[in-house]
Amino acid sequence: MKRALILTFPVAALAAAFLIAQPGRMGQGRGPHGMMMGTLPDTIVSETNPITPAKVALGRMLFYDGRLSNDGTVSCNSCHDLEKYGVDGRQFSLGVGGQKGGRNSPTVYHAAGQVLQFWDGRAETVEDQAKGPVLNPVEMAMASGTEVERRLRTIPGYVTAFENAFPGQPRPVTFDNMALAIGAFERGLVTPSRWDRFLAGDRAALSNYEFAGHREFMRDGCANCHNGTFVGGRSLQKLGAVKAWPATSDPGREAVTKAETDRMTFKVPTLRNVAKTGPYFHDGSVVQLDEAVRRMAEYQLGANLEPNRVGQIVAWLNTLTGEIPSDYIRKPELP
Ligand code: HEC
Ligand code: HEC
Repeated sequence: MKRALILTFPVAALAAAFLIAQPGRMGQGRGPHGMMMGTLPDTIVSETNPITPAKVALGRMLFYDGRLSNDGTVSCNSCHDLEKYGVDGRQFSLGVGGQKGGRNSPTVYHAAGQVLQFWDGRAETVEDQAKGPVLNPVEMAMASGTEVERRLRTIPGYVTAFENAFPGQPRPVTFDNMALAIGAFERGLVTPSRWDRFLAGDRAALSNYEFAGHREFMRDGCANCHNGTFVGGRSLQKLGAVKAWPATSDPGREAVTKAETDRMTFKVPTLRNVAKTGPYFHDGSVVQLDEAVRRMAEYQLGANLEPNRVGQIVAWLNTLTGEIPSDYIRKPELP
């Protein structure tokens, strides 16, 4: 874990700074996208996991396959429904046997573009992340990676698909390769939106009201934390930065690092598609987007936003709703 990626930002110090492009300030050289909000790439590439059509095809099957769960009923798509912007719309997701976890499922669209995964940032890449839910006892509850390998090896179609995706490997059906294939698939989960058309120079893509919402977002300081191409996903920040957040039962990153300074620190989520990914926050405690915006202003910035300014911001956030890539996500026939 690179320490520099999780700097906690002094909010006021940045108020002016993001008017100037500062590539790499928070991303620390991870790609060209700085504080400024850039347009989406077609795929979110990785140096360590080159994307190939065979790997993506395998990852797509695995993403939809309930057989990666103990009782065969729960797939990645159960909690990250790709037709529904990569979420399940519940406060807490249901794993095998209807068990409830303690956190809201974030979207998998653009997850690959974040510098950290999970609400507490405990994994870095989507490839690292993908092993977590398969073994998590309240999610897919497989006993071990070896157990997953054993099951996949009994399915001839998978053996062939792994051979195609990882050519030249003597025994390609491994838990690690499963995660690489799922990660490669996730790297293509991007949804260009009207905001991207606007950034590309089409001024008519946004109404004046929506653009006023963007200005409001910048002026209020929301972009101190929600910035870059994905409008978030680049740092961990204290929830309740200026006023204590009321619910404290989930300590966030402190549970991972045991450092008191990390108490109530959570990953800043991407706001792309946010109008479609409620309920909001790590505990899914807020249903309405305008209420989420109002709370952010109050607890993160110490501002009491009037309803019309909240409305403008919400109008801009709606322009971040992109187009679902229907062909890319079409459920394949499983082997
Ligand atoms: C039972 C529901 C459930 C299943 C099944 C599930 N997830 Fe998740 N997923 C979650 C929840 C809840 C979180 C947030 C957990 C946390 O932060 O501690 C999460 C987090 C993630 C993240 C991190 C996103 C972010 O913004 O931090 C990714 C990526 C992801 N899941 C992908 C997958 C993949 C791939 C699979 C299948 C191998 C999968 N999930 C299976 C519920 C689920
Ligand atoms: C100091 C950093 C910071 C500032 C400033 C900030 N946010 Fe956030 N935002 C966060 C964090 C951290 C979370 C995740 C909280 C959690 O885990 O429950 C979040 C969550 C959100 C969510 C919920 C997203 C989801 O998927 O659940 C919305 C919407 C949001 N912020 C909008 C805004 C708006 C609008 C502003 C400006 C009024 C703003 N934020 C200012 C750090 C910040």
